[in-house]
Amino acid sequence: MGLVKMKDLLNQASEQNRAVGAFSVGNLEMIKGAIKAAEEMNTPIILQIAEVRLPHSPLSLMGPMMVEAARNAKVEVAVHLDHGKTIGVLRQALEYGFTSVMMDGSTLPFEENINKTLEAARLAKEYGATVEAELGLVGGSEDGSTDDGIRCTNPEDAKVFCERTGVDALAVAIGNAHGNYPVAPRLAFDVLKAIDEKTDVPLVLHGGTGITPEDFRKAVGLGIRKINIATASFDSLTREAEKYLKSEGRHDYFGLNEAMVQGVYENVKQHIRIFNCVEPLSY
Ligand code: 13P
Repeated sequence: MGLVKMKDLLNQASEQNRAVGAFSVGNLEMIKGAIKAAEEMNTPIILQIAEVRLPHSPLSLMGPMMVEAARNAKVEVAVHLDHGKTIGVLRQALEYGFTSVMMDGSTLPFEENINKTLEAARLAKEYGATVEAELGLVGGSEDGSTDDGIRCTNPEDAKVFCERTGVDALAVAIGNAHGNYPVAPRLAFDVLKAIDEKTDVPLVLHGGTGITPEDFRKAVGLGIRKINIATASFDSLTREAEKYLKSEGRHDYFGLNEAMVQGVYENVKQHIRIFNCVEPLSY
């Protein structure tokens, strides 16, 4: 058990026709909560942090904590840099021992996205790490600071993109978006099906917060092997912390720390339970 390559977890998931939960973290408490849930559910997970979060949660502190937590876990854990934008940050993450990196060139023109992804793939190869890329536009951004709109992935482009870059995992845009959806999204399963038929890499669903168990089930049946969850964990941590601070009696850091761990633990456990019970629909 312990730290593993993300590619190995995705391959296992493909063989078993299921998806691995990829949980975003921003501090020690979030790491502890996620690992505790994974161990209790005896289920492998991916721990991830997005480049846009680094001003709040520096990689120099988060990186070693995430990798060490994975190494010591009683279940398999891959450590992933989410939405990498710069080769320098990807390299830093790999130096800390991350077993996977994402190069997000989704806002770039097609050829530039390919070139940037190829650069990331060459770098990751030096470290034996996995590479995820994105094609099409997933709505919003990991921290809600930007939104370039939603543009569904073109299945024919996805085929060419995967062949030319050799990526290990592809994040698709099928109407999904980061953050809380105003109403449950209507995902374009016809597009996902076409992408799955034209490519043979594990597919990634970003914007997992607020997607229904039924839609997770359909998505897994159509090749989704990694599901990203961020907002739901941040919200659950905040709710538990608020509950603690509003509770009767004296409050201290240690109680607050436990409340934050608990908030993330509950959310991660709930999602693992959903993903493990996902009996994918076959098409
Ligand atoms: P949510 O914040 O919507 O769960 O999305 C997470 C994500 O896709 C991280 O890349």
